[in-house]
Amino acid sequence: MFDLIPIARIAPDRIESLLDAAFGTDRHGRTAYRLREGVTAICDLSLAAAIGDELLGSIQCWPVTLAADDGTRVPMVLVGPIAVSPAHQDVGIGRALTRAAIARAGHGDIAGGDALMLIGDPDYYGRFFGFTAERTGRWRLPGPFDAHRLLALGNGVPDKAGDVQPRVSADAA
Ligand SMILES: CC(C)(COP(=O)(O)OP(=O)(O)OC[C@H]1O[C@@H](n2cnc3c(N)ncnc32)[C@H](O)[C@@H]1OP(=O)(O)O)[C@@H](O)C(=O)NCCC(=O)NCCS
Repeated sequence: MFDLIPIARIAPDRIESLLDAAFGTDRHGRTAYRLREGVTAICDLSLAAAIGDELLGSIQCWPVTLAADDGTRVPMVLVGPIAVSPAHQDVGIGRALTRAAIARAGHGDIAGGDALMLIGDPDYYGRFFGFTAERTGRWRLPGPFDAHRLLALGNGVPDKAGDVQPRVSADAA
């Protein structure tokens, strides 16, 4: 059985290698990466799955905001990347990582913890965790994305038009 541990215990280059293996080395051009520019991952919501020294999977979560057209700013949490080593996929590691991050977001005092978002496969993130595109239809992102893959979860998810942006510390609200 694997353990879920703080991602900070794993050397960053090992996480990068895992992400390359799961998503490919061209992953940095994805729109989700533009939402992470200039911010650091939320420690409490960023985890690794490991057996001893063997890294099996990881999840990182990031502070973002919806700068709404009505002038309000709604803090949210960008979930992902979620990656599982190809040799260990389909045995529940991705589910365990994602469920742990969702639970921590719901219990902790984390800005945006009630408004989780990601760009991903609805067949996975909807089926297992309840993410939907119901309230994301009027969101704009800093790059291309498929509308049906822009998903959100939580009571605080804003159903408004606006730009999703990285949330830097000066913009914590
Ligand atoms: C997607 C990913 C995080 C899932 O983690 P995992 O540990 O392999 O998957 P789990 O064990 O939690 O869940 C397995 C179930 O999810 C399904 N599943 C896995 N990836 C899926 C996807 N992209 N879309 C739909 N279903 C998926 C499997 O078919 C399996 O279903 P079953 O239980 O009915 O057999 C992992 O496979 C991964 O890192 N993949 C590479 C990156 C990727 O393709 N991401 C796409 C999603 S954005």
